[in-house]
Amino acid sequence: MKNILLAVTGGIAAYKAIDLTSKLTQSGYQVRVMLTEHAKQFVTPLAFQAISRNHIYTDTFDEKDVSEIQHITLADWADAVIVAPATANTISKLANGLADNMVTSTLLATTAPVFIAPAMNVHMLEHPSTVENMSRLRNYGYKFIAPGEGYLACGYVARGRMEEPITILTIIDDYFKEQAQPQTFALKGKNVLVTAGPTVEKVDAVRYFTNRSSGKMGYALAEAARDLGANVTLVSGETNLTQPVGVEFVQVTSAEDMFQAVKSRMNDMDMIIKAAAVADYTPVETSEHKMKKKDGDLQLTFKRTTDILKYLGEHKDKQYLVGFAAETDNVEEYAMGKLKKKNADVIVANHVANETIGFRSSDNEVDMYFANGDKVPIAKASKQQVAIKILNEITSRWED
Ligand code: PMT
Repeated sequence: MKNILLAVTGGIAAYKAIDLTSKLTQSGYQVRVMLTEHAKQFVTPLAFQAISRNHIYTDTFDEKDVSEIQHITLADWADAVIVAPATANTISKLANGLADNMVTSTLLATTAPVFIAPAMNVHMLEHPSTVENMSRLRNYGYKFIAPGEGYLACGYVARGRMEEPITILTIIDDYFKEQAQPQTFALKGKNVLVTAGPTVEKVDAVRYFTNRSSGKMGYALAEAARDLGANVTLVSGETNLTQPVGVEFVQVTSAEDMFQAVKSRMNDMDMIIKAAAVADYTPVETSEHKMKKKDGDLQLTFKRTTDILKYLGEHKDKQYLVGFAAETDNVEEYAMGKLKKKNADVIVANHVANETIGFRSSDNEVDMYFANGDKVPIAKASKQQVAIKILNEITSRWED
């Protein structure tokens, strides 16, 4: 039986931590819970005590057993620590080594893996100090369970919702499964290039053509490849996402920029993953000034962009090529067509007619079509989890 220490800090998402305690307990984990004083404003210790059937810890100086120092005992007892919800305040304290309450003192003392599930207003999440604190904690080895998008208690509909307890449970289960079968770091030392996000094709000084890609799928793949030991280069179109830590980041705008960025790096790569949604056409003429409107209709002429994946397929040497296909119908037929036409090793097909998967969504559900004829469906899950599964499928087949 594994020991989980759950640290609950002061945000409205603390109510979800009660459900998380229940789910962890029902899954056979021994759960002990610590609450900050602020967390107690939202939920009561008694709720956690009733579910975990264990003492609840809120005060460093309230020593329940005189023979021990409880924040050290708890820190040593834990096989894993989860901070859920993690507020900007606690994240900041952890990043700066503060130990001013039960939660921060215990976290400073533990050598167990720490999973952090942030929950806060989107502007707090994106504030440079929070971004920097999270980056610092990642470098210390803390694992982040990225918050999802949705309705926030402050009234915004945006990123910042604590991940659902069932997903956190799955992440913890997966972690202990991997521990039981030591992880192989299947991409250790490999150079992996990932493209992500949309391209922007300029018409004039103020107008452009683009598409609905948020970059989430590509960023999740870049982070998953990094976690598998790869040296990752992320070539990204313009997105609102935070640059992943530990990844070389290359910002591009147009399809042509992306082509040049990929082409100049392709020879150094062992794997190239084309998750970006690249424009197929770009205006023939562009203007540095705002085009003035005139009477009558406007006609623009477009020319084809370079098909980057096709170029890679024609010029590849050792590179393993992963293409994506965003389709609304005839998914299998079109995906198989792209696999052959672009000489890819695998095509990952998105069913983008469904709004809950594909473009912009936090979740995805895909089918992988391999050049050897294998078809592997990946069930609906967060893009982070789908990314891990995609890479696991690839690395289990990929021969050096
Ligand atoms: O970014 P998100 O909001 O998370 O959404 C994810 C996604 C739906 C954008 C992503 O998972 C996805 O499906 N990306 C590919 C979208 C796409 O452009 O598909 P396509 O069928 O048009 O292109 C097929 C493949 O050729 C893709 O790998 C694409 O990157 C590549 N391509 C396309 C055109 C072009 N000029 N050059 C290319 O390399």
